[in-house]
Amino acid sequence: MNRRFEPAGPLRGSVTPPADKSISHRAALFGAMSDDPVTVRNYLYAEDTLSTLSALRVLGAAADMREGELVLRGVGLRGALEATGGTLDVGNSGTLLRLLPGWLAGQAGGVWTLDGDQSIRKRPVDRVVEPLARMGAAIEAREGRLAPLRVGGGQLTGIEYELPVASAQVKSCVLIAGLLAEGETIVREPHPSRDHTERILLGSRARFSRRDDGSLCVSQLDELELGEVIVPGDPSSAAFWIAAATLIPHSRIVIDGVALNWTRTGFIRIAARMGAVVVGDLEPPGTVAADEPIGDLDVAAAALEATSVEAAEIPLAIDEIPLVALMATFAEGEPVVSGAGELRVKESDRIMGVVEGLGGLGADIEATGDGFVARGTGGLRGGVLDSRGDHRLAMLGAVAGLASEEGVEVQGFEAVSISYPGFERDLERLLAA
Ligand code: S3P
Repeated sequence: MNRRFEPAGPLRGSVTPPADKSISHRAALFGAMSDDPVTVRNYLYAEDTLSTLSALRVLGAAADMREGELVLRGVGLRGALEATGGTLDVGNSGTLLRLLPGWLAGQAGGVWTLDGDQSIRKRPVDRVVEPLARMGAAIEAREGRLAPLRVGGGQLTGIEYELPVASAQVKSCVLIAGLLAEGETIVREPHPSRDHTERILLGSRARFSRRDDGSLCVSQLDELELGEVIVPGDPSSAAFWIAAATLIPHSRIVIDGVALNWTRTGFIRIAARMGAVVVGDLEPPGTVAADEPIGDLDVAAAALEATSVEAAEIPLAIDEIPLVALMATFAEGEPVVSGAGELRVKESDRIMGVVEGLGGLGADIEATGDGFVARGTGGLRGGVLDSRGDHRLAMLGAVAGLASEEGVEVQGFEAVSISYPGFERDLERLLAA
């Protein structure tokens, strides 16, 4: 499905972004691993997180909507069922593909095969195969590194694991397996990444701690005890409105109910460095907490200047880097993003998608091995952008179109339903206010 986005604006009024995708996946998964029912308020109803509910139902959990809240009746930490031939469809969800094996690996006697769409079959899973195999799981990926992924459950043993690349998905997978493994499991990552799994563990009765050196330690557990989970708005979805309101002259909007967890607000800090006006009560970097902070953001149009973004900042803004590229093409100077090689293995190769996509709209932007260099030209002509089936590139094209001189036709716009099914409705409201 193609959609055209004409130059438009200013954006005015307020918008509530959809519920956070990462927290929704975890709330459902931890709910399914609990013995007592867990209520999730504001669960994300989008394709990715519906894939999670379907997979958890196959494993024996019940997930029902009651008066607008999702109620999960789990099977307990060790009770996952092997149903419908042990096949689990993760759809387009990398998070489900990487987190679920951590739980399945500890289910004695079960064997499951995880598979998904064409994009998921290109995404590396060796990053979870390696630590889980070291913990004792019988786990096998196609060609050693791709889905379908076969996971045989058994008795796991705790390990000390140093992630080669910062990844919240891999970290979460090992921590979840650690709940089922004998002894202690210790995880370290080169740079902090989103910490939603840690916050859920801190809020449950798990034996979990974060040490002063940043390493995470979890011990075997009999039963998870989770209270109600409230899912805040997704800062990665809010980021599209931050970029749009910054780039479209005379815009001024309020974004309500956003997760302001410091491990998710790297993009706002980068944008502010470029001159964007984004006011809100952001959580201070380094905070360790069980709660997910939530607040409003006030955004106004602004002129931008170049900045550079390096490896340590990438995991804190990983899904928003395409928007940094778009803003870079409007900024004065030569913004550089490096240390972002992980972008090549997202829902699409986002370095190529962004460089070819924005390049085709008139931007002066060049790929490097692990990022890109742009030369700000103060604007963007417009044209056609291929989403490559990637939800974040589809929305990038939409924002580029609104801020462009001639408009943008986005090919494959239906990909937005992965994380933000109401994107066009929210845009109409912001244009009408
Ligand atoms: C996610 C972690 C990130 C992110 C993805 C969601 C998560 O992936 O890009 O959209 O929920 O843990 P990596 O762990 O591969 O960096």
